[in-house]
Amino acid sequence: MIKKAILPVAGLGTRFLPASKSIPKEMVTVVDRPAIEYVIKEAIAAGIEQIILVTHSSKASIENYFDRNFELEATLENKKKYDLLKLITEIVPAHVSIVSVRQPQPLGLGHAVLCAKDIVGHEAFAVLLPDVLVKDSAEKNDLAKMIERFSQNQAAQIMVEAVPDDMVDQYGIVDVQESPAEGQSIVMQGIVEKPAVGTAPSNLSVVGRYVLPAKIMQLLEQTPKGAGNEIQLTDAIAMLQQTEAVEAYRMKGQTFDCGSKIGYLKAVLHYGVEHATLGADFKQLIKELEI
Ligand code: G1P
Repeated sequence: MIKKAILPVAGLGTRFLPASKSIPKEMVTVVDRPAIEYVIKEAIAAGIEQIILVTHSSKASIENYFDRNFELEATLENKKKYDLLKLITEIVPAHVSIVSVRQPQPLGLGHAVLCAKDIVGHEAFAVLLPDVLVKDSAEKNDLAKMIERFSQNQAAQIMVEAVPDDMVDQYGIVDVQESPAEGQSIVMQGIVEKPAVGTAPSNLSVVGRYVLPAKIMQLLEQTPKGAGNEIQLTDAIAMLQQTEAVEAYRMKGQTFDCGSKIGYLKAVLHYGVEHATLGADFKQLIKELEI
C-alpha cells in the first residue's frame, strides 16, 4: 500500500501576490484553516501516513503549523481552554508524520519531486500539488481510489478532469483513446505539458494528484528541462509511459484552484457554507448581500 505522499510547497506563489509576499500561499486561510491542511487531510483520508514537504526557507510557517506549539498548549491548558487545546493538537493524527526537505533551486515540479528521492526510497508514492483543493464526492475520496487501483495493477495513476478547450495551455494534458467515466481509470497513450490551444491531444487536464512508482525518480534524474525551462514531472511520466502502462484516472470530486484568486474565493464560499459551525450564518450573510 502507498503510505508516503510528496507535497511540493517551495513555489513562491506569484499568482497570489501581494498576500504571498510574506505568507506562504499554502497558509492562506480557507474559512478557518490554512489551504494546505485540506490537502493533508485528503492524503490522510486516502491512507497516507508520511507527508513529505518539499519546501523553501521562506515557508517555515508551514512546518510550524504542523508542529506542536508547547507554549500555546501550556497556556490553553492553564486557562482550561480545553476546546481550543483539542483544536490545535488534533490537526494531524498521531499515526501521521510530517517531514520536510528543501528544494535548493526553483528548477520545476519534476525537480521538486526528485528532492524527496532519498525519503521515498524504493516505495511507490503519491504526489499532491497543494494549490488545488479536491472536495470529495459522496463516495470514497478520489486519491484513495487511485491508490486502490495502483495496488491492483501497479500502473501509475494520474488524476484528470475535463477543462474548456481554450484552457489546455495551463495544464498537463493526457492523450487517451476514449474519455474514462468519472471514477474510472484508462491507459493513456501520452501526456504533454501545457500544449498550445488547438494542439492538445484531449481536454483532460492533470489535476495535481499522482500515484507513481519509485522508478519515476530515476527517470526524473534523466529528464531535461521542458516547458517553461523547468524539469517537468509530466515529461518524466511521458518517459515512464514508453515502457509501462500509465493510467489516467477521471476524478469524481470537485476541484478549487487556490493558486488563483478567483479559485480561492470559490473555495472559501463552498467550504464556508458547509462548515459545521459557521455554515448556516455564512449562508445567511450571502443571502443578505442581495447581489
Ligand atoms: C502543474 C503541472 C501540470 C498540472 C498543474 C495542475 O503545473 O505541471 O501538469 O496540470 O500543475 O495544477 P503548474 O500549475 O505548477 O504550472
